[in-house]
Amino acid sequence: MRFSAPRRLCGEKIFVNAIVLFGSPGSGKGTQAKLLTDCLSVPHISTGDMLRERIRTGAEAGTSVAATMQTGALVSDDVVNGLVEQRLTRPEARKGFILDGYPRTLAQATRLLEWLDERGVREVVIHLAVDYNVIIARLTGRRVCPRCETLYNIASRPPKVDGLCDRDGEKLVIRDDDRESVIRERLDAYDRQTRPVLEYYQQRGRRLIQVDASKDPPNVVFRRICQAIQTDDCSKNGF
Ligand code: AP5
Repeated sequence: MRFSAPRRLCGEKIFVNAIVLFGSPGSGKGTQAKLLTDCLSVPHISTGDMLRERIRTGAEAGTSVAATMQTGALVSDDVVNGLVEQRLTRPEARKGFILDGYPRTLAQATRLLEWLDERGVREVVIHLAVDYNVIIARLTGRRVCPRCETLYNIASRPPKVDGLCDRDGEKLVIRDDDRESVIRERLDAYDRQTRPVLEYYQQRGRRLIQVDASKDPPNVVFRRICQAIQTDDCSKNGF
């Protein structure tokens, strides 16, 4: 597989083809992935969106995937690795891609690094760091358009007309797993299974950048991500 490089982020050249957005539930991965995708014109690959789509279309009927997601636990590595690899091998991913919510376990991280290294793809992992209390407020306030998947928040990004999508007028919904009891389970799963992936990246000397995503609005966090990638690109690689 051949990857084209460099691409332009906020007008500046960057020399990575894979951006991995890492962070707890509600840290803003989906929000930032949409901004990065618009800017770089590469696919946004969200394992959560892919799994929800499979449930919606009945592809997971009779399997344990829907039940697992409703409890806030993680879906099996085999299922998720398979879905991601299918997407990564599509022609549109040759230009590069944004990963959102993957990898989330050590087994997934190992598989992804093998896949990237076998193809000589350069990745950067962006860790969106957010305080626990901010996360709870964000997730309980999240609303989603079921048609175009635009994200809202009743506190920080309300729609113009209460309860309706600005883009297509569709009635906004609350995600099944955004109930407070399930949110706690998701945060638990993050602490036990996903947080150790950060150390794994560090130990292997992979490019890992932490960005403060707690206090500022999405556009400010986005600029911070762009600057961090560009600065890291220059300092590490001398382009
Ligand atoms: P998934 O859909 O990936 O959910 P998640 O990781 O829990 O993350 P969220 O989508 O809840 O949050 P986010 O970080 O994207 O934040 P967002 O931008 O939406 O996974 C769901 C389930 O699928 C998992 O529990 C698991 O069962 C399964 N799954 C998925 N991937 C898997 C994998 N790899 N392995 C195994 N199982 C897997 O923002 C949240 C809210 O905050 C929004 O309302 C937004 O408007 C607002 N907001 C965002 N940024 C800001 C900001 N800077 N300031 C103020 N508000 C903000």
